[in-house]
Amino acid sequence: MPLRNPYKNDGRRWQTEAMEFRRSRAVVPVLEYLEEAGSTNDVLVARASGLPDLSVIVTGHQTGGRGRLGRSWVSPAGKSLAISILLKPVGLPLERYSWFPLLAGLAMSRALATVVPAGVEVKWPNDVLIDGAKVSGTLAELLPDLSGVVIGAGLNLTLSRDELPTETSTSLLLAGAPADLDPDAVLAGYLTAFTLLYREFLTAGGDPVGSALRDEVVEACHTVGRAVRVELPSGETLLGEATGIDEDGRLIVRSDAGITAVAAGDVTHLRY
Ligand code: BTN
Repeated sequence: MPLRNPYKNDGRRWQTEAMEFRRSRAVVPVLEYLEEAGSTNDVLVARASGLPDLSVIVTGHQTGGRGRLGRSWVSPAGKSLAISILLKPVGLPLERYSWFPLLAGLAMSRALATVVPAGVEVKWPNDVLIDGAKVSGTLAELLPDLSGVVIGAGLNLTLSRDELPTETSTSLLLAGAPADLDPDAVLAGYLTAFTLLYREFLTAGGDPVGSALRDEVVEACHTVGRAVRVELPSGETLLGEATGIDEDGRLIVRSDAGITAVAAGDVTHLRY
């Protein structure tokens, strides 16, 4: 529950008390709030060498947000969160890193399920949808020296319908979250869920099957079992049924062309 109403009187922009992020700071070793940032992922990548595992940079005003597949991520100031988490997993083989964005999507879906009445689902690899509309997306980027990865998540908090970046987006407020929703409570929920999954994954040596984390991701991922259209980075389109997620986090799609393991692509859930 919110400690204090973070929204003063100005059209659902949250204010200073919320920016203290006291709950969220209790979850991670370092949390820096920036009044404004170009891209929180870029800031964290630049500062990564001096920061510990699970350091977080967050802003409510991101001016140069980047999305998956070369897209931009746009959100009006004070109505969204841009969150980047630094991961420096000691001794984990690089090929296991592909699970981090999937764990981030799972964590975000768990956090958001506690603040809206219903309808939260994950679209592979890590979009979080509410009643089919996107409320959060994640962009994972390797550090240039491969010593870690930055997991950036954008979350639409209080955007009104005419502020949404696309027709297929939504915000927590539009999806039925309380009008006095505390951004700190939402962020703390996400960080708590993510750190739990991250530690479980590391404890299992990065084994998504032995740890049962793959099963948890599949259960939350409503892409699996659906008819899908996948736009591949090559420009090709795949039409078929998503049947599972493999050990590397790739989406398995059965189509007329056979079985394809998709590592990156833009998925649309089809309704037939
Ligand atoms: C997507 O859905 O395409 C991913 C969007 C990721 C946006 C977040 S906001 C925080 C971090 N900083 C960025 O520039 N991008 C990610």
